Amino acid sequence: MTPTLYRAAFMHTPSSPFTDAEALHVQQDGGLLVDGGQITASGDFVKLRAKNPEATVMDLGGGVLLPGFVDTHVHYPQVRIIGGLGMPLLDWLERCALPEEARLSDTAYARAVAKDFLHGLRCNGTTTALVFGSHFKGAMDLFFEEAAATGLRTVAGLVVSDRMLRDELHTTPELAYAEGKALIERWHGVGRARYAVTPRFSLSASEGILDACAALMTEFPDVHFTSHINENVREVQTVKELFPGSLDYLDTYDRAGLLGRRSVLAHSVHTTDRELVQMAAHHCTAAHCPCSNSALGSGLFPLKRHLNAGVHVSLGTDVGGGTGFSMLKEGLQAYFMQQLLGDGGVPLTPAHLLYLSTRAGAEALDMQDQIGDFGVGKAFDAVWLRPPEGSTLEAMLGHTESASATLAALYAGGTQADVARVWVGGDEVFTRAEFKGSKSAQKQPPVLAS
Ligand code: GUN
Ligand code: ZN
Repeated sequence: MTPTLYRAAFMHTPSSPFTDAEALHVQQDGGLLVDGGQITASGDFVKLRAKNPEATVMDLGGGVLLPGFVDTHVHYPQVRIIGGLGMPLLDWLERCALPEEARLSDTAYARAVAKDFLHGLRCNGTTTALVFGSHFKGAMDLFFEEAAATGLRTVAGLVVSDRMLRDELHTTPELAYAEGKALIERWHGVGRARYAVTPRFSLSASEGILDACAALMTEFPDVHFTSHINENVREVQTVKELFPGSLDYLDTYDRAGLLGRRSVLAHSVHTTDRELVQMAAHHCTAAHCPCSNSALGSGLFPLKRHLNAGVHVSLGTDVGGGTGFSMLKEGLQAYFMQQLLGDGGVPLTPAHLLYLSTRAGAEALDMQDQIGDFGVGKAFDAVWLRPPEGSTLEAMLGHTESASATLAALYAGGTQADVARVWVGGDEVFTRAEFKGSKSAQKQPPVLAS
């Protein structure tokens, strides 16, 4: 097939702005040559065009192209209950989340929820997600089917628990192992799907079920692991009482052998110094979920302490404790919360927000060689943000004085309405209505200020 040369103002962070002051890479009039879904050249459009006269040009003016967003904590069964405000975690679980999760025993209902969920991801520009699944195996099989149909990259697994939720959501260690094994054998590494072993949290997991999870990870060493940790003070206290033999919350997972390079622990708001040292030693990631932490009143994420301890941090929307799928909003909320911490916070720049919502997530999933930035050899996973005509964001972007200010404007003012096109591995997985059927999108020049 003829390669496609995408012409756009683009930005990406091939390295971390937490350690590299030059991490933000900007091309005002950029070109990305894509062949077979992969980026084969990346740089200045005019130069790339001269070298590749045979390529089909796709003109993406009047907006900004970013790497596809990577959401590292988002619950598929909770899309329809977003917005249950006014409760702390354990009350919210009991009154909002768990009754809805029980409804996914009905596979027709679960399929409709899966479609809503996957649509929410792609129309917000999220191309890869670490998805907290359902407690029902049938709902996970159909989730992977639906995910394959959308073309998104998903890392997901059956959620397992054997206490303190509702009877319908409980399983046994034996069944958790058997169903997990069947799902891994059917879906892990198939197309764009990967599997994550997923005990809900230690509060709802006996040592027996954590051991069943560990058995799966021993048998299938390249699967991922995800769960919750230290989100809410009442939760932390209950876990302490349930595991008298453990040093702390992290230790409940550590003792079972669940921690490693592919382990992503959501929230980590009330994490102790000892836990941070151990998280770093195991190369785990903390998935920061600032909208959820605000909505459920869980607390202010101690980003500085995580970074100082050497713990990798990524971003998650935590739908439905969180308030929606937009990684732009999530980045902005992360920024707000660090501001509110004053001297205890990390002053996040627009480059940090971009890194946290793209490349940091790819690293959390150990997929940094495939996705997360626009380097040569990466898959063309991208989101083209182009505000609708007449919108406030369009006015803002027309008057920014630097690329960094443009990025700040996108995070401050961007929403789902600004997502115009989304690609995964070169396949277009979302197109805003006004661009359907058009190959070339605009008359305006690329939007980045110099
Ligand atoms: N801890 C255990 N389950 C959940 C959940 O569904 N959402 C959040 N935010 N925390 C949890
Ligand atoms: Zn969660």
